[in-house]
Amino acid sequence: MFIASDEEVTPAVLAAMENTADPRFKAIIASLVKHLHAFARDVNLTESEWERGIGYLVELGQRTNDRHNEAILASDAIGLSTLVCLMNNGQGGNTETAAALLGPFWRMKSPVTESGGSIVRSATPGPALFADIQVKDAKGNPVSGVEVDVWQASPVGKYENQDDTQADMNLRGKFTTDSEGKFSFRSVKPAGYPVPTDGPVGELLRAQKRHPYRPAHLHFLLFKNGFKTLVTQIFVDDDKHLESDVVFGVTKKLVGDFRKRTDKAPASDVSGDWYTLSYTFHMEPGEALLPTPPIR
Ligand code: BEZ
Ligand code: FE
Repeated sequence: MFIASDEEVTPAVLAAMENTADPRFKAIIASLVKHLHAFARDVNLTESEWERGIGYLVELGQRTNDRHNEAILASDAIGLSTLVCLMNNGQGGNTETAAALLGPFWRMKSPVTESGGSIVRSATPGPALFADIQVKDAKGNPVSGVEVDVWQASPVGKYENQDDTQADMNLRGKFTTDSEGKFSFRSVKPAGYPVPTDGPVGELLRAQKRHPYRPAHLHFLLFKNGFKTLVTQIFVDDDKHLESDVVFGVTKKLVGDFRKRTDKAPASDVSGDWYTLSYTFHMEPGEALLPTPPIR
């Protein structure tokens, strides 16, 4: 058909996609087209603004590689990742959930580590942290055999893949819960850090006069057949950015009780401040799917 005016564009595009075989794909793309067209109308998008927007998407792709994922970072910075997470966890968004966004730094194949072991694999500053984690099902029964990935940034503010001074896989480990649904590990108390700001996401944050900080946290990914994979983070309770996380990841449930201890530490090489964290996760029944790793 010939297009006679701007009003005819949206229905023409929807009609052209009418034969899409997969009904879910059809519905998603039709809605995307409707909302994008409505958005362009809403803001009276100019040609140069459209060009700038396309350029931004191109830049997100160009800045994404095996070691860095600017596209996920962008989704995180505009709250889309948290929105999708909260809509899809807690019984489809109906109850409180312990889930949180994955972020751009999860790697597959973290080193398998015995319960009680350390994820500090090269010299890392910061107070020692001893974490005791338990996993229960929705009814409160312990869940054994859950594979749990743990990862965190060094207190210097970088994940090992961003920092050549850290050993490969430093501050990453994979644990399995025991018959009581428990495992424990040693690490360092995490510190807050800025998300990468040398790319298009940094440009966005500066234009919006937003700070780039994430409150200090540990990441967890819990996987067991029969349960919905639980991707989450536990935040340090005294962090000043808890209520202004640049990627909107903090819910009250995820603020951990990081206790500063004054008694004798459980390891002889601890000097200076040390902390403990105890936390219980609840997994929902569901499908055990693994996310695509944002980086290799
Ligand atoms: C992270 O916590 O690893 C993270 C999450 C979102 C954006 C950047 C970093
Ligand atoms: Fe993180």
